Amino acid sequence: MFMAIQTCLPPPVTKTESSDMNIIPKPQSIEILEGEFKFAKSTSFYISGSSQNVTFFSDFLKGLIPGLQVGEQGSADIELEIMQETDIQKEGYRLAVTKKGIHISAGDEPGLFYGIQSLRQLLPPSSENGVESLKGYRIRSAIIEDFPRFGWRGMHLDVSRHFFPLEFVKRYIDMIALHKMNVFHWHLSDDNGWRLEIKKYPLLTEICAWRVDREHEDWRKWSPIKAGETSSYGGFYTQDEVREVVAYAAQRQISVIPEIEMPGHSSEIFAAYPELSCQGELLPVRPGSYWPNEDILCAGNDSVFTFLEDIIDEVVELFPARYIHIGGDEARKTHWKTCPKCQNRITVEGLANEDELKSWFVQKMEKYILSKGKNLIGWDEILEGGLAPEATVMSWRGEAGGIAAAKAGHDVIMTPTSHVYFDYYQGDPETEPQAIGGHSTLENVYSYEPIPAELEEQEHRFVLGSQANLWTEFIKTPEHAEYMVLPRMTALSEVLWSAKDQRDWQDFRSRLGWLLPRFEELGWNYRPLDAEQLNK
Ligand code: ACM
Ligand code: ZN
Repeated sequence: MFMAIQTCLPPPVTKTESSDMNIIPKPQSIEILEGEFKFAKSTSFYISGSSQNVTFFSDFLKGLIPGLQVGEQGSADIELEIMQETDIQKEGYRLAVTKKGIHISAGDEPGLFYGIQSLRQLLPPSSENGVESLKGYRIRSAIIEDFPRFGWRGMHLDVSRHFFPLEFVKRYIDMIALHKMNVFHWHLSDDNGWRLEIKKYPLLTEICAWRVDREHEDWRKWSPIKAGETSSYGGFYTQDEVREVVAYAAQRQISVIPEIEMPGHSSEIFAAYPELSCQGELLPVRPGSYWPNEDILCAGNDSVFTFLEDIIDEVVELFPARYIHIGGDEARKTHWKTCPKCQNRITVEGLANEDELKSWFVQKMEKYILSKGKNLIGWDEILEGGLAPEATVMSWRGEAGGIAAAKAGHDVIMTPTSHVYFDYYQGDPETEPQAIGGHSTLENVYSYEPIPAELEEQEHRFVLGSQANLWTEFIKTPEHAEYMVLPRMTALSEVLWSAKDQRDWQDFRSRLGWLLPRFEELGWNYRPLDAEQLNK
């Protein structure tokens, strides 16, 4: 039976109502107690324990609770505490609501931040805009004990196929934060544009960040650059902007993982540095699909490694995260087969074939990255020809790569196309905005289990978690990007945070009904639930 979308959403929350315990991702445990906390005309808070982010946490709360004042320890309405000695799990928190007040305790900063995110979801959506007094608003007394199931709860964003402004990148981080996710994987380079300022190679942003504007053409059927045409579509992030994003994310307990693609998905580099390819040909940056991916970095040319290592030197200074992602996917080795330099490398290094040359390439980069105190991540193609000794694998072509890597004792992050490619359609292609293809509904994302059944119990620990990938060939605007990730990332957040046996689609859907008005308050564009999802 058809049912209009709005009829299944809960009634609008008024200031005297309580939102109940509609938290996403679902906390590990909620014990409902007698009574309730009622907001008075003015509310006070106090934060204790050592935290570098006290000012940020205070400002965050002040943004949600109008007129919030600093109170006294022991008598403030809302008390937040980071404890030195506690049995609260890593990234976990305890949120106690009683008649007397609200107490959030944690053993670390992420835990405290996640406790604040839960409190945020207990407040009315309108508090996001801070326009109303909360006087009279009630929260049921309860004790929430919570911690995440997985340590890697990620969202990826491709800014090469389409460039997204800094303000949107921050907004994307806001979305990640609300969902208690903790990794932003920033895909900064690809065939359609280089997006990161590198001081040593200014042409990367002067030339490789720009392409001729073919936005009016089909991505797969673009027309080549004409004589005299200027490359006007593109953009890049300055190093100052990157630092701003990294700091913004860090306050929200999110690590920013930079991805610099090599040896494939790198043809944009040859618009300025053609000598780094096997063919040595100058190639303007592609304004659309580039396939098959044959113009790749030459593995026989030592200058390629000098270039990449110089870039890594700047990347490690910009990104404090433990990992650097080197891509490694979809590199056709066609030119390596005929390139004298690549063939010489195979001979000198005693390699069997081009797969082993690729593995040699990745291992060389891993050694350099390890020497900088960082770890390498690559897409699952880095398994071909032998995995670098300490590499972490991102399994995207299904689960096979992740299973093989975990069985070999490597850490893995599961990102299979089947469930977490958010560039796929989430409904009928006839009525949906354009997507790359595929199909992954909200319910399909919710059904995802990151630990493959093929892994033995003792291998489970190698699965760090999962993330959704947003490739942007067909996504040109922030609004479209938001539509593709919301609310699918909401479903993924629960997959990654909540206990496996607590996952319940119907219950999730009803809690989601309370979260969607918050997206509206925040001005985030989301895909509404359709009748089919509401009725199932
Ligand atoms: C990928 O989707 N090529 C990692
Ligand atoms: Zn070569």
